[in-house]
Amino acid sequence: MELRTQIAEAVAFLNAKNITEAHVGIVLGTGLGRLADEIENQTVIDYADIPHFPLSTVESHKGKLIFGEIGGKKVLAMQGRFHYYEGYSMKQVTFPIRVMRALGVDTLLLSGAAGGMNLSFKKGDLMMITDHINLLPDNPLIGPNDNELGPRFPDMSETYAKSIQSKIETIAAEKSIPMQKGVYVSVIGPMLESPAEYRFLHRIGADAVGMSTVPEVIVAKHGGMQCAAVIVITDECDPDNLQPLNIAEIMEMAGKAEIKLIELYKTLIAQL
Ligand code: HPA
Repeated sequence: MELRTQIAEAVAFLNAKNITEAHVGIVLGTGLGRLADEIENQTVIDYADIPHFPLSTVESHKGKLIFGEIGGKKVLAMQGRFHYYEGYSMKQVTFPIRVMRALGVDTLLLSGAAGGMNLSFKKGDLMMITDHINLLPDNPLIGPNDNELGPRFPDMSETYAKSIQSKIETIAAEKSIPMQKGVYVSVIGPMLESPAEYRFLHRIGADAVGMSTVPEVIVAKHGGMQCAAVIVITDECDPDNLQPLNIAEIMEMAGKAEIKLIELYKTLIAQL
């Protein structure tokens, strides 16, 4: 079935649940799902019920689409996202972004966890993504292009909207929320990196490394949305002094930083 038809079927299902038009899309990553609690007048839909939505396999991710309002703005939030390492195709990973776009979303805010390779970053810091490097071995735009969904060769000159970046910086300063800035590189995972890999990724220009975000941003840009992303630095990736790490620690760090991110995004959404 054509992607466009799948999107239309998912949209028709959501329309029937009174989810009609949203302005801001939000992708809630690892350990950051509680921003969803701030959404007023919620309609909650399990991914499992939405036609053509993939199912979430990672326990730390809930699979729910939440529609409602923050700061008077209609939002559509993904509580739980899909990762390529789970075995989904890139088209599946990014399908919810296509559905958001079809429901009117023109601004996409993303979050997630990442390792900090810039050694001035500390565990628990927030980092605003200013740009990215895609090292995933696949791309959601491969295959015949549907011009109705976006152009064959999308422009990536301003991948993360400068106007939203300056709003984020202003809000962070006003609220005394420390905010790092940097380049995010996406890798396939699911293992964390070896010291040599962290050294390589840092040398090619990345400040933080993670296993998500970039496919969703590519599809959002393809569809003409503006994007912004703030991630939590969950581990310090110094190749010369690398400590063993487990997912529980990553979750704990993400949870600690969550309060700051919620405050930031709530204020931001009201201004969008
Ligand atoms: N590498 C890749 N992905 C990650 C990391 C990391 O060190 N930390 C959190 N997500």
